[in-house]
Amino acid sequence: MARQALIAPSILSADFARLAEEAAAVGGPDGADWLHVDVMDAHFVPNLTLGLPVVKSLRKATEIPLDCHLMIENPDRWAIGYAEAGAYNVTVHAEAAGDPVKIAKDLRAAGAKAGLSVKPGTPLESYVDVLKHYDTLLVMSVEPGFGGQSFMPEVLDKVRTARRLVDTGHLTLVVEIDGGINADTVEQAAEAGVDCFVAGSAVYDGKDPGKAVRALRRQVLDARR
Ligand code: DX5
Ligand code: ZN
Repeated sequence: MARQALIAPSILSADFARLAEEAAAVGGPDGADWLHVDVMDAHFVPNLTLGLPVVKSLRKATEIPLDCHLMIENPDRWAIGYAEAGAYNVTVHAEAAGDPVKIAKDLRAAGAKAGLSVKPGTPLESYVDVLKHYDTLLVMSVEPGFGGQSFMPEVLDKVRTARRLVDTGHLTLVVEIDGGINADTVEQAAEAGVDCFVAGSAVYDGKDPGKAVRALRRQVLDARR
């Protein structure tokens, strides 16, 4: 699978009272490829954010494909609803999933891409066979739960391993990274083989979110030259 340069702004750092406008701020032809939606349940992670009703509304408010990152317990029960709500990609956590192969099959049957995420301390090795059923791999480069944390470069070894498995045809996956991606860290992630870059604070904390998306994509493409 050819390497991609997808930018997925995370609305975790956006103004939750103005989500439609915040989505529009990163829209347009050279804007966000995916809109990353962080669902947190205050159990799998200490934080609480938003859930299915908000995703349903957001789906109607923007044309940007929704990339739902479920940081929740029991995704076996809840993930399917996000696919049925029209999410483009639904990512569950490997640490929370009871039967990750069944989850992937259900998500795909409901018309979504299936994503598997690993926390910084979770090794990839145990999931290589499971990942044959998935479309995206989300490598966490911070402990999930909060935006604005510092990038953990040690997770790039997992990115390199995943990239190798994709480039040698063992897996067919979009390799995605999430946490601490900004102008200072995006290049090392690009060099390690990431296809899709989630960025929350780097996009929404500044004055011009659309410009930040374009700048990140430019850095990714330049780093690969
Ligand atoms: C953290 C979330 C991230 C978060 C990233 O648990 O999964 O998507 O929004 O925020 P930044 O880019 O600020 O690290
Ligand atoms: Zn996320």
